[in-house]
Amino acid sequence: MPTPTPPLTPDAATHGLRAALLRFDAEGRPLYDEDGLLAIGPGADGVQRVVAAGDWRTLSQRFPGLPVTHYPDRIIAPGFVDMHVHFPQTDVIGSPAEGLLPWLENYTFPHESRFADAGYARGVATVFIDELLRNGVTTSLTFATSHPASVDALMEEASTRGMRLIAGKVLQDRNSPDGVRDETTRSLADTEDLIRRWHGHGRLGYAITPRFAPSCSEAQLRGAGELAARYPDVWIQSHVAENRDEIRWALELFPQARSYLAVYDGFGLMRERAVYAHCIHFDDEDRALMRDTRTAAAVSPTSNLFLGSGFFDYEGADRVGFRYGLASDVGGGTSFSPFHTMLAAYYVGREGQTKPGLSLPPGHLWWQHTAGAARALGLEGVIGNLQPGCEADFVVLNPAATPLLARKTAQAASLDELLFAMIVLGDDRLVERTVIAAAR
Ligand code: GUN
Ligand code: ZN
Repeated sequence: MPTPTPPLTPDAATHGLRAALLRFDAEGRPLYDEDGLLAIGPGADGVQRVVAAGDWRTLSQRFPGLPVTHYPDRIIAPGFVDMHVHFPQTDVIGSPAEGLLPWLENYTFPHESRFADAGYARGVATVFIDELLRNGVTTSLTFATSHPASVDALMEEASTRGMRLIAGKVLQDRNSPDGVRDETTRSLADTEDLIRRWHGHGRLGYAITPRFAPSCSEAQLRGAGELAARYPDVWIQSHVAENRDEIRWALELFPQARSYLAVYDGFGLMRERAVYAHCIHFDDEDRALMRDTRTAAAVSPTSNLFLGSGFFDYEGADRVGFRYGLASDVGGGTSFSPFHTMLAAYYVGREGQTKPGLSLPPGHLWWQHTAGAARALGLEGVIGNLQPGCEADFVVLNPAATPLLARKTAQAASLDELLFAMIVLGDDRLVERTVIAAAR
C-alpha cells in the first residue's frame, strides 16, 4: 500500500498549472502563493504526482517549455479527505430522530437493508461518488453496508474514476434487524475475501468495519482484531463515544471494560490506521489510549449537531495529543460539502459550556480536512497536500463563485480572512473542478 515516494526530478514534469496555490508545511501551517505554479507528472505507477509547487516567478524558470494551463483568479488547493462517511446513507440525510439509537432503528437500518440488491447499490455508488467529486472530496474512508456486494459496487465505481478510496463491509452480527444483520463466521470470511480482492487494487484500500461494539458479538470483534493483526496495513473503522445512551448500552454489554473505547483495545482494534468516528465523551485515559496506540478520531461536527450527540473537545485532544481529522458522516451528517463541515467544526470548537471553547483558526480547519486527515489515515505525503511527491488530487476553487463570496474574498486582507470567507460562505459552487491523479 502507498508510502510517500521520493520527489520526482524536474524532467518528470509533463504539465503545469498556474493559479493561486494553497498547501501545508510539515507543521500543518498553510502556505499560499498568490501566483503559483504546480508542476505535475506521472510517477512509476502512472499516477500523477506533484513535481514542484511554489511561486510562479521563481519556479517557472526551472521548467522552460513546460506546457502550462493558466487559471486566472482561481485557487488550486489539495483535494479534501473525508475521514468518515456512509455511502449507503446518501439518501438518509435529513432524517430527524430523537438521537442516535432511534435514528439507526427507524431510518438507517431499514434503508441499508435495500443494499442487498447489488443493482440498487451500484446506482447509489454512482450518485455518491458524483457527490464527493462535485464537493471537492478526492478520498474518503467509507462505510458500505453489511452486504459484500455493496463494497464491490463502491470499489468498482471508485476504480473507474481512479480515486484513492478506502471502504469496508459493515460487521454487525447482533442487535441489528433482519436485512442488515450478518452471521459471525461468514462475515469474517467475507471480510478477508474483500481484503484480498480490493486492498491495494490500484489506489483502493480496505477497512475492517465493525459497525460499533453494541452491534458486534465478542466473537465478531475478536475475529476482526485477528484480521487487523494479519493485515497490518489494512485500515480499521468504527464508531465510539458518540451518544450517552449508546455509551450506557456498550458498557452494559461489555461490563469488564474500563470504558467504551477500551472495548476496542481489548480486541486488538486500536493501532495505526484505526479510525473511530465521534470520540466525544472521552476522559483523559481514553485520550491517552488514542495517542499511545496511534489511533485517529474522525470528528463529525454536522452529524453531532444534527443528532444532538455533543461536542468534540479540541482542547482535550490537543492537550493529550492524539490524531484527528474532519468527516461528513453523511447521513447522520447533513452535507457532503467540506466547507459546511469546516464551519460546523468551528461552531463545535467555539462551544464553551460543556468543555473549553476555542476559536479554531481557518488554516487549521482546512488542514483537518486535507493534510491533517491524510496524516491521521497514515497517508501523509501521499494525499491531502500539494508538496513534491504527493499524488496530484486537487480542486480548482473560484473565490468569486457567488456575489457574497466575491465581495468578501475581494476584501480579505490576510490569508486567514480569505480562508475564513470561503469556509463560512462556501459550498459546492466554490468548487469549479476536481482533478483526480489517476493513472492514465
Ligand atoms: N453508530 C453505529 N452506526 C452508526 C451510523 O450509521 N451513524 C452514526 N452516526 N453512528 C453510528
Ligand atoms: Zn458514522
